Amino acid sequence: MLELPEEVTIKEVGPRDGLQNESREVPTEDKISWINQLSEAGYSYIEFSSFVHPKWIPQLKDAKQVASSIERNPGITYAALVPNMKGLEAALETDVDEVSVFMSASESHNKKNINKSIEETYPVLREVVQEAKGAGKTVRGYVSTVFGCPYEGNIPIGQVIDVSKHMLDMGIDELSLGDTIGVANPKQVDKALHEIQKQLSFKDIAMHFHNTRGMALANVLVSLNHGITTFDSSLGGLGGCPYAKGASGNLATEDLVHMLHQMGVSTGIDEHKLRQAASFIQDTLNKPLSSHVMQIERSR
Ligand code: HMG
Ligand code: MG
Repeated sequence: MLELPEEVTIKEVGPRDGLQNESREVPTEDKISWINQLSEAGYSYIEFSSFVHPKWIPQLKDAKQVASSIERNPGITYAALVPNMKGLEAALETDVDEVSVFMSASESHNKKNINKSIEETYPVLREVVQEAKGAGKTVRGYVSTVFGCPYEGNIPIGQVIDVSKHMLDMGIDELSLGDTIGVANPKQVDKALHEIQKQLSFKDIAMHFHNTRGMALANVLVSLNHGITTFDSSLGGLGGCPYAKGASGNLATEDLVHMLHQMGVSTGIDEHKLRQAASFIQDTLNKPLSSHVMQIERSR
């Protein structure tokens, strides 16, 4: 018998991971309106933007304005990505609940994405984590290219564990393991999680699957089997890292919620409101969303 949890936490990353990868910049008021719709859909966590360099990710240059204009739902943690102290200072000028630091298990993706070697990144993130915690914020740590790098190919699991250990030592509250370019297969996830859980006693691990090759839901199932109950996803299946060649859509939230609800696993998310919010961003971007749920919606 498949062992399933009663409940799963879904962390919505669409306003950040989704919109950072769109060639078309979404007007700030549409972002605010979209996030407000998401806030009504039953999530407990929304990553609303990032405080990175506006030249690197121009799509999210309005993070501050978004943060100060969205209607806060007290039951929701509103989080943003920060790469360094400059980003943290900007984030702390808003009342962000949580900040997310990020780095890659692969040297070349780390360099392309944040312009530093892995060794150079550690002290930068350590200071961010310390300062953020001192300011009373929780901190999430992302490790990217866990299952493969667009520049280096396969990444040894020891390297993923090493980077994760450094992040845990900094004091992060949650570790999110990213399949940045959507190459992971279920057997690989099974093997990697076996090793990671054996070597890290830390329990607060989330999985962040991109669905580039259609394997994200299968990878979720394997992760559930390992006791993982937190998943990142993006409404409509939007998303990707512009500094990871070949990266595309995150696992679509509505497909994930649909699968979980069909299996009797609760998420707290209202599927109807989710489809409404997906339709809104589909109209704003003026392109059909790739999720299965939205394909059915369009055929009605
Ligand atoms: P850099 O050029 O090396 O920065 O970029 P620097 O520290 O050398 O500073 C250069 C200039 O940038 C200075 O200005 C700084 O003040 C300014 P100047 O003195 O020349 O006028 N600067 C900033 N300005 C605004 N905000 C900041 C900031 N920092 C420095 N935060 C940097 C380094 C990290 C800033 C850059 O590489 C960057 O912004 N990268 C972001 C890339 C990114 O956002 N990628 C996507 C997110 S990661 C992802 O998608 C993966 C994930 O989803 C998980 C998965 O899927 O695996 C999380
Ligand atoms: Mg991502």
